[in-house]
Amino acid sequence: MFWNTNELHGLPHNPFKSCVAPRPIGWISSVSADGHINLAPYSFFNAVGSEPPMVMFSSTGVAPRPTKDTVSNIEATGEFVCNMVTWELRDQMNATSAPAPAETNEFELAGLEMEPSKLVKPPRVKAAPIQMECTYVKTIDLPCDTPGGRNVMIIGQVIGIRINDAFLIDGKIDMEKIQPLARMGYQDYSSVEKIFTLNRPK
Ligand SMILES: Cc1cc2nc3c(=O)[nH]c(=O)nc-3n(C[C@H](O)[C@H](O)[C@H](O)COP(=O)(O)O)c2cc1C
Repeated sequence: MFWNTNELHGLPHNPFKSCVAPRPIGWISSVSADGHINLAPYSFFNAVGSEPPMVMFSSTGVAPRPTKDTVSNIEATGEFVCNMVTWELRDQMNATSAPAPAETNEFELAGLEMEPSKLVKPPRVKAAPIQMECTYVKTIDLPCDTPGGRNVMIIGQVIGIRINDAFLIDGKIDMEKIQPLARMGYQDYSSVEKIFTLNRPK
């Protein structure tokens, strides 16, 4: 099939998110200006630079809440943490995606333990094997088809990375042990279970 995205795709579900898959999930903790702690998953998420290390995520909000809490908090306070989601943490991650009021602490909602971060105010997900402490770089406003909605990309600089030593084997992160979770489109996910090495051509 070919689908002109200005027109109807003719399928029972929009296939776009499955066309860019698997996508890593940024499980983003933040704090509002008045101190409310927030945690939510974002799968329009990736690393976008390494010197300095930078990450992005994007939020698609619709009226009456076009700006999601994570975005409001980061724009107001300038800090966030990206926690890695694993197969083990799939249900807690899903629970934190509930459309809860800004005052709700999703760590508590999902029964997750918080740990203080070293360089930023938002707490970390203690059970996440890797946590990246970030400072806000910029918001890029994106086109938005939905009237009253807001599509934004947030870019942050990673200023500190904590890796659980239990997942460091011979100085390398053991991804088979971590089993990071990824989004596949629709309601589907994948977890990393098989890894192979490919050397670049000289
Ligand atoms: C696996 C997963 C990935 C998600 N990815 C995104 C995303 O990339 N962008 C987005 O706007 N919402 C995404 N959501 C929905 C948000 O997590 C949800 O709207 C959440 O309530 C936002 O919380 P907040 O208002 O506290 O930031 C995702 C949900 C799940 C379960």
